[in-house]
Amino acid sequence: MKATIAVLAGDGIGPEVVAEGIKVLQSVATRYGHSFAFPQALVGGCAIDVTGKPLPTETFSLCQASDAVLFGAVGGPKWDDPSAKVRPEQGLLEIRKGLGLFANLRPVRVYPQLVEASTLRPEVLRGVDILVVRELTGGLYFGERQEGTERAYDTMVYTRPEIERVVRVAARAAQGRRKKLASVDKANILASSRLWRRVTTELLSREFSDLQVEHVLVDACAMYLIRRPATFDVIVTENMFGDILTDEAAMLAGSMGMLPSASLGEGRRGLYEPIHGTAPDIAGKHIANPLATILSCAMLLRHSLGLEVEAKAVEDAVAAILAEGKRTVDIATKGESPISTVQMGDAVARQVAG
Ligand code: IPM
Ligand code: MG
Repeated sequence: MKATIAVLAGDGIGPEVVAEGIKVLQSVATRYGHSFAFPQALVGGCAIDVTGKPLPTETFSLCQASDAVLFGAVGGPKWDDPSAKVRPEQGLLEIRKGLGLFANLRPVRVYPQLVEASTLRPEVLRGVDILVVRELTGGLYFGERQEGTERAYDTMVYTRPEIERVVRVAARAAQGRRKKLASVDKANILASSRLWRRVTTELLSREFSDLQVEHVLVDACAMYLIRRPATFDVIVTENMFGDILTDEAAMLAGSMGMLPSASLGEGRRGLYEPIHGTAPDIAGKHIANPLATILSCAMLLRHSLGLEVEAKAVEDAVAAILAEGKRTVDIATKGESPISTVQMGDAVARQVAG
C-alpha cells in the first residue's frame, strides 16, 4: 500500500527517536512491499523559533493531508519562561484537538526481559499487561482558564457525549482483551467525575454487559498500580488523570522510553508518539531509547494503516532484540553495556527485515 506519514519530530530527543521510527517503518515497507512517504514539518519549540507559532498552519495542513502523524516530543528549557505567551506544548494540544483525537491508547506491557530494569519487585510485575485509555481533548487541558499574578484558575468540564465516546473505545478494547474495565475518577470530590461515573455506569450496563467493571478513585488507582498492577486490564480515565497515571505506569515497564501511544478519533487518521518528553538533559547524546517511538510506529501500522501483520512484526522484533540483551542506558542493568539510539534502531530494523 501507499501511505503518507507526516513526521513532526519536535524538540530535544524528538528528532533522534523519530529517525529510528522512520528507519523501522522503511524496513517494514521494503519487507512487505509498501511505499511510505515521510514529509516533515515543524512543531513545538523549533516551530516557535522559526515561525513564532508552536503549530504553524502548514504543519497542521500536512497532518490533515496525511494518513497518520508520527510525533516526537515538544518543549524544553529554552521555551520555559513562565511569562511567555506561546509554549511548545500548545502545538501538541492544538493538533490533538484539531484532528479530533479524543482517545489516547497507552499500552503498558512489562517485557519479561526487562523485569530487572524496574524499581519494583519482579513478583509484582509478573503478567502486567494494561491498556490505559486516556481522554485527550477535554478536561483541565482545554477548560476555560485565567492566568493572573494573584489568582488563576483552570476548569474541568466534561459532557455526556465526550465521556461516552472515549469509554466506548475503552470498552471495545476490553472486549478484545480480558474483559475487565476500570474507570478512574475522583467522584468523591469533583462534579465532572460524578458525571463521568454516572455516564460510564449507564453506558456500560446498556451496551457492554459482558464486561467486569470497577470504578476506582484516582488516588487509590495510583496506589494499586504499584501494589497490584497485574490485576488491571483496561483503564479509562479523563485527560489529566491519564497523563499522571501513565507516567507512573511507565515505571512498571522499566522506563519512560518503553511506552508508546496512539491518539485516535472517529476516522482512521491518528497521531503516534512516545509518552515521554524531550529529555533535554540527554538530547544530542545519542543515548535516548527509541523503542517507545518504534512501538508507536507499530500502533500506527495497526490503527491507521490496518497492517496488523506488519505491526506484529515490529512488536516481535522489539521483543527479540530485548531477548538478545540489547539495551539502551535507561533499561540496562548491571553488567549490560548499553548501545546507542541509532544502534537500537538498526537492530530492530534489521530484525524486521528478516
Ligand atoms: C503527554 C505529555 C503531554 C501531555 C505534554 C507534553 C503536553 O505529558 O503526552 O503525556 O500532558 O499530554
Ligand atoms: Mg505526560
